[in-house]
Amino acid sequence: MNLHGTAQIGENHHLWIGGMDTIDLAKKYGTPLYLYDVALIKNRARGFKKAFEEKGIGYQVAYASKAFSSIAIIQLLDQEGLSLDVVSGGELFTALQADFPAERIHFHGNNKSPEELEFALNAGVGCIVVDNFFEISLLKTLCRKRNQKIKILLRLTPGIEAHTHDYIITGQEDSKFGFDLGNGQADAALKEVLDFELFEVLGVHCHIGSQIFETDGFTLAIEKLFNHFHTWDKECDFFPKVVNLGGGFGIQYTSEDTPLLPEQYVTAMIDEVSRQMNLFEDKQMPELWIEPGRSLVGDAGTTIYSIGSQKEIEGVRHYVSVDGGMTDNIRPALYQAKYDAYVANKMNEKPSNTVSIAGKCCESGDMLIWDLELPNVTDSDYLAVTCTGAYGYSMANNYNRIGRPAVVFVENGDEQLVVKRETYEDLIRQDLPLKTKVFV
Ligand code: LLP
Repeated sequence: MNLHGTAQIGENHHLWIGGMDTIDLAKKYGTPLYLYDVALIKNRARGFKKAFEEKGIGYQVAYASKAFSSIAIIQLLDQEGLSLDVVSGGELFTALQADFPAERIHFHGNNKSPEELEFALNAGVGCIVVDNFFEISLLKTLCRKRNQKIKILLRLTPGIEAHTHDYIITGQEDSKFGFDLGNGQADAALKEVLDFELFEVLGVHCHIGSQIFETDGFTLAIEKLFNHFHTWDKECDFFPKVVNLGGGFGIQYTSEDTPLLPEQYVTAMIDEVSRQMNLFEDKQMPELWIEPGRSLVGDAGTTIYSIGSQKEIEGVRHYVSVDGGMTDNIRPALYQAKYDAYVANKMNEKPSNTVSIAGKCCESGDMLIWDLELPNVTDSDYLAVTCTGAYGYSMANNYNRIGRPAVVFVENGDEQLVVKRETYEDLIRQDLPLKTKVFV
């Protein structure tokens, strides 16, 4: 059994998180229910920050809010002193509604619309991570029109793609994001942005992938970037004040996953940057920024479901259905992502069956977990699926007109509802009735 953060088995054999009985919460708020272990989130945020502070490095840890965007999580991470990465007008709006300081917001995206860029300029975001030539020209027009200066980073694709234990080095990356370092796009982009007086070019950004368990991909990316900075120093008299190395730090969804501690990733990055800086005589160490999403909120999230119907096909499979599925967690269907789960009200019982957990959507692919060892269960039982905090709620949808679950934060024996469950009325809120005879 792999319990995360403050999760533990209570004397009543229930799963407790943040000092709260998850079964009491399920009964109070209904299921499915997303629970977040606030202490674990704080712990992660502090772990990342401490690693930079111990090395005396200028830094920003920006929470990648695509992992889970809501007013409460943004307020929590503001209290922890983090910065924020937003990738759309909607994420920016949420951040501003949470009173997150605009100067600590970084605006990302490969196709920011003119309206979104204008929104960001009005809000006074701390920087825009410029992704492509089209965006440079849009942003120039807007800055000129408004006579407004803006801080920018250039998003670079260094030709390293990292995922879990593997990384691929490609001379030229086939990615929709950023300016390619290998084919001259990055050089052309740099010249263009340096030439425009209303841009303050802070530095560069790169994000090499997600759910990464090794430091090699990051150190290779740093090596590639800094090699290139020698050319930029000579040819453009430019050396970055900020190097943003993105997110992608892995978490342990199941025992197959072997992530490092947050501080291990950060320390490896700092050491490699310091090594590279030895090759520059007269330059100041740049600030290092990172953008963790999953590793801040992923394993802090647990989804509690009610168990419903079961179907046993002798010698084939035993299906156990829950009252959610691909509407609240699309990752198994979309990425074949693997999860662990426990019977939250029978944590003491030994597994006796191999079952597969099905969602309730009218879709055969709506399966949450294949071949899970569980004790006998009935429709009075609750299933806790762990590590659902990242890209769960944020990728939730209303397929089959199923409402999105509520979100509750738990900490130190206290709970707080931070996102309400969607009602049937919420589901039809945007619908308009057909005008009679309109199509006749
Ligand atoms: N920075 C940038 C520029 C990114 O594109 C991402 C994630 C992050 C930071 C945060 O990465 P993290 O630390 O969360 O791995 N929906 C997929 C993940 C997509 C990640 C996209 N970019 C999933 O559920 O696995």
